[in-house]
Amino acid sequence: MEQTFIMIKPDGVQRGLVGEIISRFEKKGYYLKGLKMVSVERSFAEKHYEDLSAKPFFGGLVEYIISGPVVAMVWEGKNVVATGRTVIGATNPLASAPGTIRGDFAIEIGRNVIHGSDAVESAKKEIALWFPEGVSDWQSSLHPWVYES
Ligand code: RTP
Ligand code: MG
Repeated sequence: MEQTFIMIKPDGVQRGLVGEIISRFEKKGYYLKGLKMVSVERSFAEKHYEDLSAKPFFGGLVEYIISGPVVAMVWEGKNVVATGRTVIGATNPLASAPGTIRGDFAIEIGRNVIHGSDAVESAKKEIALWFPEGVSDWQSSLHPWVYES
């Protein structure tokens, strides 16, 4: 089954949104396979967002991500990469629909609370970067109540 990398950014941690965010993914039916709180070095944040290094906002984005601890997670489920992005909402919270995490909890693009991988390939890369130790392979006993087969 597909896995995605989700990170609660420093503003989400500071604002006490960790439980709410985890709860939304859990209640949807996704399985939590990895979880840790970590304060990353500048070079690590630059590596995570390396595809955006030419963007004018890159410096500010890196400062934002290293401004406090983040909560790094791996979530698993059918189509979790794309649907996880739908749960998160549009990058700019002014355009994020109500009911999405950014739509409900954020106002500014540079304080948008949460990150989610944008494709299956980048999810694999990000999971390897953030969880080199690997993730848990537990199976939920509720599986038949969430999935038809
Ligand atoms: P993320 O990677 O954090 O999940 O966000 P995303 O895919 O929705 O958006 P992306 O284009 O990957 O941008 C990464 C993060 O950079 C900040 N950003 N600022 N000032 C700007 O125009 C701007 N554009 C993007 C946001 O914090 C965005 O989440
Ligand atoms: Mg992105």
